[in-house]
Amino acid sequence: MNRFMREFVETTGELLGSDQVRMMGRWKHHGPITTLDHSLFVAYLSFRAARALGLDETAAARGGLLHDLYLYDSKDKSAHPGWQCFDHPRAAARNAEALTRLSSKERNIILSHMWPLGGQLPRSPEALLVDLVDTFCAGLEVFRIYHPSRLREKLGVRPLIPAG
Ligand SMILES: [Fe+2]
Ligand SMILES: [Fe+2]
Repeated sequence: MNRFMREFVETTGELLGSDQVRMMGRWKHHGPITTLDHSLFVAYLSFRAARALGLDETAAARGGLLHDLYLYDSKDKSAHPGWQCFDHPRAAARNAEALTRLSSKERNIILSHMWPLGGQLPRSPEALLVDLVDTFCAGLEVFRIYHPSRLREKLGVRPLIPAG
């Protein structure tokens, strides 16, 4: 773990060890990549980019980590009411609020991360940043340029998979 990774772990604190975050390892998000691996990738790159740009790195890291905390199988049509594209940021914000005390900026980061396709408008530079980083990471994942499970292992985060 390098210095940035240690600082990222300190910044995201108890969220990284929480059952809800680790549970994201149960579901696939882009191809073979789990929602947990994707979320850690987005959170870590957002944290690094926010620091480089002099932005709020805590909100970027926490918002990035929780942006896809919808906690269901996106292919299961009974798990959410309508279009995954519009539903999942709202489900993620609800779950995130049950897990931690979100700032209004962090809440908006989660709700606006699909912008301009849907959801809220990004209301801070950090929200715009996480939106862009999410798209960038999704591209690297879909085209198999980077597999973020390597990052998860370096960060020492273990997915929570049901036994059996
Ligand atoms: Fe998403
Ligand atoms: Fe995402």
